[in-house]
Amino acid sequence: MTIFAIESSHDDTSFALLKDNQPIWMKTITQTEIHKQYGGTVPEIASRLHVKNIGILVEELKKEINVEEINLIAYTKEPGLIGSLHVGYIVANAMAMILNKPIMPLNHLEGHFYSAYIGKEVEYPALGLLVSGGHSQLMLYHNKDSYELLGETQDDAVGEVYDKVARKLNIDFPGGPVIDKIWQKYKDIYQESYTLPKTENELNFSFSGIKTHIINLINNDINRRIDVNVEKYATEFQNTIVKYLKHHMELVIERFKPKSICLIGGVSANSAIRDMFLKLFNNVYLPDMKYTTDNAMMIARLAYEKIKK
Ligand code: KG4
Ligand code: ZN
Repeated sequence: MTIFAIESSHDDTSFALLKDNQPIWMKTITQTEIHKQYGGTVPEIASRLHVKNIGILVEELKKEINVEEINLIAYTKEPGLIGSLHVGYIVANAMAMILNKPIMPLNHLEGHFYSAYIGKEVEYPALGLLVSGGHSQLMLYHNKDSYELLGETQDDAVGEVYDKVARKLNIDFPGGPVIDKIWQKYKDIYQESYTLPKTENELNFSFSGIKTHIINLINNDINRRIDVNVEKYATEFQNTIVKYLKHHMELVIERFKPKSICLIGGVSANSAIRDMFLKLFNNVYLPDMKYTTDNAMMIARLAYEKIKK
């Protein structure tokens, strides 16, 4: 069974081939460098670049495989930027029609969950913590056909807060990886963290309070003409994020008693959060670094799970 998948929900155009849960080929064209100059994704530019990039990927795909060998075409249907999603939708449908193969529209967030299980089987019930630039949520998969959203952010996503705090500290976009590098270097020196936010439903998250707190501290320094200690703020910020995520994970592990847990999404590349996860539970799945950000392999993997008997 060869599954071909397209992901184009945000600013990455990605194609992948998965054969019986084994990754065969993946190509992703990312637009980060272009949107960087605007400080965030510009939807109209993203759609136009997808149109250009998807043509390049179609040519690459034809070099990689005789497209007649594809058994199923999967694509990201939602959620995402509508213009970007449209590009993937149209190409997937055109291919399915011409090749006379079945087509499967899929959910991007479910795809992220399965990014931790590429080439592996899921041990259900499985708990996933999705942390990315656009989403932060706790997902509980009872089995392949039923999942529950246990909690989600009430305001900013984790990655978004990383990027906003980084901007305030004059760190390049995207700020997450840079803050993480600073943390690795200074974690033994700056061990403090800030007060953890509270939400009405204790399984939800609120990250904007952490962001506002740190921005106020920096503004105070600026007003008092004190040099802003970038290393201290970056390290204590990451300490707080890790502590907050750990607190939630302990709660849900205790409450839902999963067989496996996974950490997914762009922020799952973070060294401290990965470490915390590995120490937290005895059966942890982490995606390969190339599958942490948006990619089509996770969509193909999700399709594989859906058709499995
Ligand atoms: O999943 P993703 O591509 O975002 C969406 O498309 O939603 O992830 C991008 C986010 C950015 O906010 C970036 O700062 C963050 O992931 N990120 C990190 C790290 N690497 C990437 N955040 C913290 N630590 C990292 N090592
Ligand atoms: Zn994503």
